[in-house]
Amino acid sequence: MIPRYVVDFDLDQLPRIETDVIVIGAGIAGLFTALKLSETKQVLMITKKSLFDSNTRYAQGGIAAVMSDEDSPDFLAQDTLIAGAGLCDAAAVDVLVHEGPQGVQELIRYGTNFDEEDGHFALTKEGAHSQRRILHANGDATGFEIVRALADKVKSDPRIELWDDHLVLDLLTEEGECRGALVQKPDGTRVAVFGRATILCTGGAGQLYRYTTNPEVATGDGVAMAYRAGADIRDMEFNQFHPTSLCYPGAPRFLISEAVRGEGAYLRNIRGDRFMENYHPQLELAPRDVVARAIVSEMEATKSTYVYIDITHETPELIKHRFPTIYEYCLNYGLDMTTDWIPVAPASHYMMGGVKTNLHGETSIQRLFACGEASSTGVHGANRLASNSLSEAIVFGQRIVDAVNKLSPNKTTADNSSGSERHAALTGALIERRLKLQKGMVRYAGLRRDRAGLLKGLDDLKKQLPLFQLCLTKREELEYANLLTCALLVTESALSREESRGGHYREDYPQRDDLNWHRHTIMNRENGIRTERVDGDV
Ligand code: SIN
Repeated sequence: MIPRYVVDFDLDQLPRIETDVIVIGAGIAGLFTALKLSETKQVLMITKKSLFDSNTRYAQGGIAAVMSDEDSPDFLAQDTLIAGAGLCDAAAVDVLVHEGPQGVQELIRYGTNFDEEDGHFALTKEGAHSQRRILHANGDATGFEIVRALADKVKSDPRIELWDDHLVLDLLTEEGECRGALVQKPDGTRVAVFGRATILCTGGAGQLYRYTTNPEVATGDGVAMAYRAGADIRDMEFNQFHPTSLCYPGAPRFLISEAVRGEGAYLRNIRGDRFMENYHPQLELAPRDVVARAIVSEMEATKSTYVYIDITHETPELIKHRFPTIYEYCLNYGLDMTTDWIPVAPASHYMMGGVKTNLHGETSIQRLFACGEASSTGVHGANRLASNSLSEAIVFGQRIVDAVNKLSPNKTTADNSSGSERHAALTGALIERRLKLQKGMVRYAGLRRDRAGLLKGLDDLKKQLPLFQLCLTKREELEYANLLTCALLVTESALSREESRGGHYREDYPQRDDLNWHRHTIMNRENGIRTERVDGDV
């Protein structure tokens, strides 16, 4: 079993710091909530690397919101619910589609510049969207522009204290409340921080898989800490694989935005044939899980490790103007998007599940909140609609701020760990363990799963559990412990859900089963696994 704490500590021996609110993580969720909170509160923002190391920074396509007269909240809600394959919470979707435009205005107020055309926002389309409604910045550098604007403001805000290169090891709790966090400083010493609220904005866990569009910091730290602390974790079996990441010798799995297909690109197998008409009426803009599995089928049929994305029929001007980052990146590897088909393959991209929250970002532990990819608000269901994640972070970030502002000060005591029993250090090459976990997740809990594979994967993961009896101190050791925790959550949830839906495809249960499985999966460290009705279910 995963223990309550990943390290031993004695609070009486540790320095203590008190603040109003602790924000953990520095993607859009962390930056935005910290800025909004700082209007009334003192904020301590903690990130394990820097303000520029997050998934947000790499977001290309953009941010979905209803910003034009041709669009409506009902249309966006409809698209979100269809993509979510019956598992979205209707009330959460309603919040997202109605409060998104206000959130976008707030980003603009903080200095984000979105692309415009003829005096209006330039809006693009992505998979499974019925309208052009995706705002973008500098063509395909939306996340970078948002982080630039928000990080500038955070750095100059006197009410936000920023701790970068600091590792949050565990959440501190007592009497069912979160009191703060145990933090390891860059020099290895530890400190206990206390606040009236703690907000997990720690992003996703793309590093669970060998191939991912996510940066190396995406190791599921928030979900793992919340699970250890006893929070409900929801729907971890739903992982989104982005259909098109660059697949070229020597190149990292760089994202080739869905917006490229939104602007008309084709997918072709290695024989040069377009194939999406064999899989879905929406062709290249079908839901991501459909496109990703179609690509894998074509790869298998042609005995290839990739397919091509082809936008050479568009003008070089359009390609370079809309996709300057992708164009330059590919060019670095000798691939010219204006003349070459680009080799691509699916890669892990987004975690639909996470720490379960209500409509105010509150988790099942009082005073513990979760926001962004670390959370499971109910917006994404079984499959996130492209570009809904940045809007989710700001909409629910604002709601968390409203809830935190109503909280009274917290106690500054917490439970101690149960005693110092971990003495032995981890030996052997950690990088090999991480690689083995990532390869196992691709093989047994990837795009296609079955019972036998999931059981094998689970068995392999459980063999790693003695790691928790060791004295873990380095960042990579603690990240591995968090990845192992998340891998177990994904695999166990995937094993329990005996149907196929959205980002979870079981070859042994290939049909969606609404009769038995129109339900969320909940995992709790103390109470085990259970299912729960989908809100709005009739
Ligand atoms: C993309 O640009 O394709 C990614 C957008 C997203 O995942 O929301």
